[in-house]
Amino acid sequence: MAEWKNGFESSTGKKIAFIGSECYPFVKTGGLGDVMYALPRALIRQGCEVRVILPLYRCIPDKYKALMGYRGSFMMDLTLEGRTFYVGIMEAEKDGVIYDFIDNREFFDWGNPYTGLWEDIPKYCYFSKAALAILNYMDWIPDVIHCHDWQAALAPVYLRTKFSGTPVGSARSILTIHNLRFQGICSIPHLKYWSGLPDYLFNYPVFKINDDEANMFKGGLAFADRITTVSATYADEIQTDFYGEGLNGHLFYHAPKLQGIVNGIDVEQWNSADDKLLVAPYSAADVLEKKPENKRALQQRLGLEVNDGLFVIGLVSRLTDQKGLDLIDSVFSEMLDSSTQVVILGTGDPRYESSFRYYESANRGRVCAYIKYDESLAHQIYAGSDVLLVPSLFEPCGLTQLISMHYGTVPVVRETGGLKDTVEPFNVYTGEGNGFTFDRYEAGLLLDAVRRARDTFFNNREQWNRIVVRDMEKDVSWENSAKQYLRLYDELKGI
Ligand code: ADP
Ligand code: GLC
Repeated sequence: MAEWKNGFESSTGKKIAFIGSECYPFVKTGGLGDVMYALPRALIRQGCEVRVILPLYRCIPDKYKALMGYRGSFMMDLTLEGRTFYVGIMEAEKDGVIYDFIDNREFFDWGNPYTGLWEDIPKYCYFSKAALAILNYMDWIPDVIHCHDWQAALAPVYLRTKFSGTPVGSARSILTIHNLRFQGICSIPHLKYWSGLPDYLFNYPVFKINDDEANMFKGGLAFADRITTVSATYADEIQTDFYGEGLNGHLFYHAPKLQGIVNGIDVEQWNSADDKLLVAPYSAADVLEKKPENKRALQQRLGLEVNDGLFVIGLVSRLTDQKGLDLIDSVFSEMLDSSTQVVILGTGDPRYESSFRYYESANRGRVCAYIKYDESLAHQIYAGSDVLLVPSLFEPCGLTQLISMHYGTVPVVRETGGLKDTVEPFNVYTGEGNGFTFDRYEAGLLLDAVRRARDTFFNNREQWNRIVVRDMEKDVSWENSAKQYLRLYDELKGI
């Protein structure tokens, strides 16, 4: 891999600016961070120039801050009163992708990226505006501004209002929905004050959602030239009451400019054949020999009974109600028979953290609840488990099922969003498929899927082994999806 550099100029290809609130390896709380890292790299391989614009949060490790170079600074006005704020630009480059970090202690020195909506609203108003302002300042005018989730949703609005007569105003915008659950909702006066945007935008077609509140995501979706989300199924689902999070009507109205493009994973970052975090790296050719070694190492690390004959169920997840943890909770005891171990890695809602801790204490040696964020253990779970559970209530795309397939670990998923689009159900008659699936959000159906998987593992090992190898050979890279984004960028040129 190429080295990091602090500053870079390149001169060919379509110019794309990514704006988003997290990006691996600097700051990541979930899949958004992975996509902000992997998609730009895939676009570079397709000949684009890409800059990724991020906040310079205090929590970014010093080892990355040390790689950044000062690129410039200026003052920018924000708020209804036109107060001025410092905008600093710190820059780094890796493998052709340029990362521009916006430096402002007042907004980004709170520690974690998300600290509560009251502070987050001003923070991301500032961020979206500053992201456009630095493009003008650097005189790097992109063809497309590709914005991600509500934190960047004001950028398309600023682009067509405050920046319309400026150089960056010639760019087109895309707003990608990674998760519609989070929208940036606050009182109308709060958003009016901080965004400094004109009164006429605080109506129902743009920001307003009721007499008192405004919604940043809603306004961005109205103004973006195109909307994408991270799977075709989720693009349909969010136009319905159940999945639409109150914006289904708005999205239905904007459906002509909405499309789903499924995520991939960075297959260099997730490469089981060259994964330094594994005791026994492997490829599709030797997964069947090497997986038991990785399983034993996982059991040992977590204080579980070391026995590669057991069926190991993994879960790597934010612990929130999105992830179908209620279903797991309802059938935990039935799932855990004497031939099974369960390994949980995640943090989040205290309700789930404590129920998983309880299962661990009641089943020492058979259950491990590792309530932390831990990249290295995540790799070892993907490699050492037999199945990975993703029984989500909703799942825009989901990356854990893609990573697990790529590591030869069979996913057990609910057929929703990207899970439905990426995991073909195993068909016992034809032997085809990548995983075990269920449709309705019911605990009994999850239990049934786990039992079908376990039964195949113990009683039909030949079929099982074929699924494992097929999963490893499945193309889950970014290449196809990056091409779909490229086509979309091309289309935008013409509008
Ligand atoms: P979401 O973005 O909704 O959290 P995704 O499946 O898209 O779900 O992405 C989750 C990403 O976060 C994956 O890369 C997964 O490995 C990682 N992840 C989630 N929880 C943890 C954890 N506790 N420790 C390490 N990695 C985690
Ligand atoms: C969101 C979604 C997840 C998706 C990720 C990256 O966090 O919850 O399903 O994979 O974004 O797009």
